[in-house]
Amino acid sequence: MEFAEKIKQAIDKPIFRQLSDVAEEEGVPCYVVGGYVRDIILNRPSKDIDVVVVGSGIAVAERYAKKLGKGAHLAVFRNFGTAQVKYRGMEVEFVGARKESYSRNSRKPVVEDGTLEDDQNRRDFTINDIAASLNRDSFGEVLDPFGGFDDIKSKTIRTPLDPDITFSDDPLRMMRAIRFATQLQFDIAPQTFRAIARNCKRISIISGERIIDEINKIMKSKYPSIGFRLLDESGLLELILPELSALKGVDNVEGKGHKDNFFHTLTVLDNVALKSDNLWLRWAALMHDIGKPVVKRYDNKNGWTFHNHNYMGAKMIHRIFKKLRLPLGEEMKYVKKLVDLHMRPIVLAEDIVTDSAIRRLLFDAGVDIEDLMLLCEADITSRNREKVARFRENFGIVRQKLKEIEEKDRIREFQPPVSGEEVMEVFGLSPSRPVGDIKEAIKEAILDGIIPNEYEPAYNYMIKVAAEMGLKPVKGS
Ligand code: CTP
Repeated sequence: MEFAEKIKQAIDKPIFRQLSDVAEEEGVPCYVVGGYVRDIILNRPSKDIDVVVVGSGIAVAERYAKKLGKGAHLAVFRNFGTAQVKYRGMEVEFVGARKESYSRNSRKPVVEDGTLEDDQNRRDFTINDIAASLNRDSFGEVLDPFGGFDDIKSKTIRTPLDPDITFSDDPLRMMRAIRFATQLQFDIAPQTFRAIARNCKRISIISGERIIDEINKIMKSKYPSIGFRLLDESGLLELILPELSALKGVDNVEGKGHKDNFFHTLTVLDNVALKSDNLWLRWAALMHDIGKPVVKRYDNKNGWTFHNHNYMGAKMIHRIFKKLRLPLGEEMKYVKKLVDLHMRPIVLAEDIVTDSAIRRLLFDAGVDIEDLMLLCEADITSRNREKVARFRENFGIVRQKLKEIEEKDRIREFQPPVSGEEVMEVFGLSPSRPVGDIKEAIKEAILDGIIPNEYEPAYNYMIKVAAEMGLKPVKGS
């Protein structure tokens, strides 16, 4: 179906017909624009409707909310000349057509009333710049002054005006271009892309919160690597996340190189993304080798080594998350843990797997063991098929063992079988170092397979360990 026809049909529903009535009553031209129109053509679900009013957006919004009656929620932002109506899970944003120019050092625009054309001139990309009329006599008529349809057909992100103007009006759009290219798997037009590279330093005036929003949208896409490659090629990555840029490149000493850890990381990220929607697992994939540049060494005997890069990487996470305005609670702890542990299952898959190594892995990974295994498998990016096949087979063994041992010993959500209170009661101790030592000894004995994870054997073991420490049960216990 023709795009124009598709749009006309898609907006032929009560919510838009009601908007149309309101436009008539107010006597002003109204258009649905932006992402909603784009997403109709691309068959993407969309809950946000943007309406441009050639006149007062607020007045139309107020009338519309009144018409919808109960259940409609109106919010007016007089400073910005915009208003929003929420109704039954839909959000309609109203804005008066504007002519805007931005001052060089802030995103705060100087706003004047304008025509629809003015409004379309100031939007970010041609694919976001298609308007459909809501007025009765022209309902559904499409205005596509910058060739948005053609760009959707050819899967191109392009600015409507000279990209230097569009990006300097709002440098966040550089991130948006890359985000749309990633989400939609579109190409950025060469001229537009060159302007991103030219203007990348202007990203410094954008708040961290807005930048991370875009990065997370890239992260949630089907192939997040597309975005990170573009961020890298445009020069933005170096400014936003230099620790990731630092993974790039291959050093050569005496003809010996190592793999490019940036491109390896992107492959791991895509591998994880194919298996899981968990944003934080994806972050763990992006960060898993972040410590490598810091610990990289070359020596004649071993060639290139990255000793303890997992530990170093885990240590870097807090600083990176803080700088990127990412949450510093449970999410960060999870990413840190996975980065720290990401080598463990690989090492197990290389060695003969002992039960106690499996127990220790289960103990350290806890409820995140499945995610860790997924990350670890995604980390195998070797081109050597034999090597990959061998790893996969060994991984199968590790998984099987994890299952068996967890069923037997329940280590994943380990709770000490003898509590601290009980240790204190039995030996008449107050909270003190020996209590911790006894508990630790019991835990170690379980992980080593000396005793099963059960109360009786743990109690008896406690008596034995305490005796070695010169402690005896007090009478009556
Ligand atoms: N817009 C713009 N410049 C920006 C942000 C938005 O020109 N920096 C315009 C675009 O026309 C865009 C519309 O405002 O389509 C709505 O913006 P927004 O809701 O942020 O984005 P969508 O395009 O709807 O896409 P998404 O919902 O995926 O963010």
